[in-house]
Amino acid sequence: MESIKVHAPATVANVGCGYDTIGFALDGVYEEIIVSKRSDDRLVLQAIEGADLSLDPEQNVATIAAKALLDYFGIKAGFDFHIKKFFKPGSGLGSSASSAAGAVYAVNQLLPNPLKTSELLPFALEGEAFASKCYHADNVAPSLLGGFIVIRSYDPLDYFALPIADELHVLIVRPSVEVKTSEAKGIVPKSLDIATARNQWGNLASLIHALHVKDWSRLKASIEDFIAEPVRKSLIPDYEEAKVIAHDHECVGFNISGSGPSMFALFIQMEQMIKAKKEISDLYAKKGIICDFFESRMSNQGCNVIEGK
Ligand code: HSE
Repeated sequence: MESIKVHAPATVANVGCGYDTIGFALDGVYEEIIVSKRSDDRLVLQAIEGADLSLDPEQNVATIAAKALLDYFGIKAGFDFHIKKFFKPGSGLGSSASSAAGAVYAVNQLLPNPLKTSELLPFALEGEAFASKCYHADNVAPSLLGGFIVIRSYDPLDYFALPIADELHVLIVRPSVEVKTSEAKGIVPKSLDIATARNQWGNLASLIHALHVKDWSRLKASIEDFIAEPVRKSLIPDYEEAKVIAHDHECVGFNISGSGPSMFALFIQMEQMIKAKKEISDLYAKKGIICDFFESRMSNQGCNVIEGK
């Protein structure tokens, strides 16, 4: 192959109680990355559509991640990158992670002896770390691999997949304010008292059980976050009001998606999701805040090839 087009899904990280630890891939919300071989050994960002980002390869997550993979192989090869962002950076849907995962996945497919997709995570993580100024894999792992991923350990990197709740409807609510992950990380407490930590790990264990046994009332109770949500919700306009509306419509889990400002709401009944979406839309319209929505589901699909030639 000389050229490849891949899709890298958007992701919901943290999922309430799992700060930097859990995340899932979304269905139908993705970034498109086209990578083509060059005759020289340069990595060139030809275009980034849908976001105002630097085309400097040393300042972009996609090329930084791709370079990490090429360095690992010791290969001198050049590639052109064309990125189409269908969801904006700073949305809380893991835009930088999708770029990093998609770029590494695409370049790997064009190499003579590609690695397995599961072996690509450390390289994608290099790109993501540049964007958010710290290593966190809860977006990049589900974008690369699909599914609902738990990061057990960063050193050594160890992760595993949970069963996805593919029968749940996932509503993404994205008010049009930008929250930079690096800044949102800065306001999360650096230390915890034992009572808070106990509440949090109780919820995380409970969420994992809820996904296995498909106990949605347990899922709803478990998603509560004692660490990031209390400080980050102030960055999101009308967060509490939106949460109340979702819960009034039998939502089985609501919280901040990643570092925000997007929020996710989980529903068993599609009709309830539609009603909640309408009321949340009216809430933001009344305040003069533009708000987008994605109707999605959890998905086992990670990065995937759309076209190769
Ligand atoms: N776990 C990361 C954070 C996700 O909450 O900062 C960023 O999208």
